Amino acid sequence: MDATETPAITATTTAPRQLFESSGVKALLDQLDAELIGLAPVKGRIRDIAALLLIDKLRQEQGLQSQPPSLHMSFTGNPGTGKTTVAMRMAEVLKQLGYVRKGHLVAVTRDDLVGQFIGHTAPKTKEVIKKAMGGVLFIDEAYYLYRPENERDYGQEAIEILLQVMENQRDDLVVILAGYKDRMETFFGSNPGMASRIAHHIDFPDYSEAELMQIAQLMLRRLNYSFDDGAASTFSRYVSLRRRQPHFANARSIRNALDRIRLRHATRLFGSDEALTRGQLCTLQAQDILASRVFHPAADAVQTEGARK
Ligand SMILES: Nc1ncnc2c1ncn2[C@@H]1O[C@H](COP(=O)(O)OP(=O)(O)OP(=O)(O)O)[C@@H](O)[C@H]1O
Ligand SMILES: [Mg+2]
Repeated sequence: MDATETPAITATTTAPRQLFESSGVKALLDQLDAELIGLAPVKGRIRDIAALLLIDKLRQEQGLQSQPPSLHMSFTGNPGTGKTTVAMRMAEVLKQLGYVRKGHLVAVTRDDLVGQFIGHTAPKTKEVIKKAMGGVLFIDEAYYLYRPENERDYGQEAIEILLQVMENQRDDLVVILAGYKDRMETFFGSNPGMASRIAHHIDFPDYSEAELMQIAQLMLRRLNYSFDDGAASTFSRYVSLRRRQPHFANARSIRNALDRIRLRHATRLFGSDEALTRGQLCTLQAQDILASRVFHPAADAVQTEGARK
């Protein structure tokens, strides 16, 4: 295009705000905001990525040079901090902005990618990639792909196939590697090829006690339950004790605790010969919480999260 054909520098685009709303991306980010308590830095980064893609779209409209940005990411943080939930929303945002075609999430771990025998890994990895194409491939505990202690570990083969796809098909597949922060850093340290292809590192912090309480209230509201005053203060004590125990998994532990509390509530009501009020069906009391082993540590010597009653 020669100088006379170049649109004037004053040519205008759709207003970004308008595109933000009409593309449905604003609705998705609002939903993310409503469904997840806290996580301000994470939400901010997702917004930045949305802004990047949206402005890129407007540049394309103007016929300006536009190279799809690399969007492979790492999500680091402890269990139950919202990594999988955010990845699912991220996939939808990428679809709404036309970065990927389908916007689905395929969540895998090492065993889904790596075979037990020679020759099994490449077909396995390629099959998973095929399923994830057009969406997001979410690899949980990605560092298990790399096992330097085994001289000929098939994980390396999976990593090499992933690296190629991350480079060559990055406009229709986003790879998100998730796991504990320190292990992920070690993994990147020994896999510079992987490290250099990850454009965004997003860290998910542990929740504060106040945030865990808000998460509990949000989950209960969604399920049409609530704590009475005694239950609210008892649960707050529960959270403060549970947080210091082994196997604590942030929001997931809160969800599990609420499941057990609802079970005790049901058992308590079950014995009644009289009709129940709507209020009774919805209201959790301190006694439903106090039976937890968290308040009776002596009885809890070797319990794990799954077996905890
Ligand atoms: N900030 C939050 N507000 C409300 N609910 C949350 C929040 N974070 C997580 N949850 C809920 O907690 C549960 C666990 O979250 P999620 O599976 O996304 O965590 P994760 O980081 O992927 O955990 P893991 O590492 O164990 O896979 C989900 O039900 C999710 O909806
Ligand atoms: Mg997860």
